[in-house]
Amino acid sequence: MSKYFLFTPGPVNVASNVRMAICKEDICHREIDFDNLLQSVENKLLALFEIKRSNDYRAVVITGSGTAANESVLSSVVGDQNILIISNGEFGERLFKISKVHNKNTFHLQLPWGDPLDLEAIETYLKKHKISVVAMVHHETSSGMLNPLEKIGALCKLNGSILIVDCVSSAGAEVIDMEKCHIAFCSSSSSKAIGSYSGLSFVIGKQGEFEKLKNLPIKTVYLNLYNFYTFIKNTSQTPNTPAVSLFFALEQALINILEEGVSNRHANIKAKADTLRQGMLDLGMTFLIDQEEMSSVLTTVNIPTHIELDTFRQRLRERSIIIYEGKGCFKNKVFQVGNIGEISLSDIHFFLKILKECLGTFPQNEKRRCNFTNHYDSMTTPIKNGSLLSVANT
Ligand SMILES: Cc1ncc(COP(=O)(O)O)c(C=O)c1O
Repeated sequence: MSKYFLFTPGPVNVASNVRMAICKEDICHREIDFDNLLQSVENKLLALFEIKRSNDYRAVVITGSGTAANESVLSSVVGDQNILIISNGEFGERLFKISKVHNKNTFHLQLPWGDPLDLEAIETYLKKHKISVVAMVHHETSSGMLNPLEKIGALCKLNGSILIVDCVSSAGAEVIDMEKCHIAFCSSSSSKAIGSYSGLSFVIGKQGEFEKLKNLPIKTVYLNLYNFYTFIKNTSQTPNTPAVSLFFALEQALINILEEGVSNRHANIKAKADTLRQGMLDLGMTFLIDQEEMSSVLTTVNIPTHIELDTFRQRLRERSIIIYEGKGCFKNKVFQVGNIGEISLSDIHFFLKILKECLGTFPQNEKRRCNFTNHYDSMTTPIKNGSLLSVANT
């Protein structure tokens, strides 16, 4: 099979030493070799998050994709209290769906996809209701929007709520200051900006918050977060059989970032995003959201009216380039181009060259313009009312 350039939000092209790492010797997960491997991965995850008081935090690693870590948190940190999910896209709404399964007192502050979070509405909501836990997505991958952790963290602190954050598509590319943003737990995955294979996810949390989970009802066995915590604390192992070879790969991917330097890695990803965006603007493309609101992980591009997306993606695929299609209400309105993983600046120039050629293969009968001036017109989710789509509990 020929090589594809995965210009996607993940899974990504991995570095060759990450590819090699999964071929290491076989080890037993109940032996000291695995204890050491897990300890090494945990220490490196805490270093990736640049946690200063690292003795106060722990990281547990779960065999399963990012959703496993999200579900582990959502099923383990709420007893009978109220949890509020704040959403402005596909992945925030998924948090709501997961929480509803486990927590009967789940509330939802649902904003339109691609809208910035409404801080006033959040503040008012928290003041009016007794909310113990707030959950949100950092980088809402469906639109490419980076949500403001620090401001929401401050509102949670003021209100006495704990904050849990889905960092699945931001960890490794964006600053996530758990201490400054008052985040109790954040969850993420191995396969996006961290640059390893899919199949592992992790939760980083304050030691004190992990300890409190002991007193909460057990809602799942396999994904019980307190169980993962007690296993790593007492034995440096995982409760069930882990995907050992993926731990070797994740360890190598983390070594790669730490050797490059965490802030250098962030800056390099941002430089790639800037090059990609300028190149696409030069080709006349327009974007779903303002550049200031975007993460540096991916760019969400409005599909020009004269382009038929499936044919366009096929033509790119024939030239070894994979891009992502829009989800939900963004389907057939946008496509997404990621710039994480082993994508170099010269790969980005290659992408821009192929993009130009592929765009040129579509007859341009009309002046190119975005056919997507108001994305609320075709939303599949409830119609916008003020800035808030809905405020609801289960
Ligand atoms: C923000 C966010 N959360 C959760 C997920 C789900 O992760 P996974 O597909 O690894 O379970 C994704 C996947 O793209 C995501 O971008």
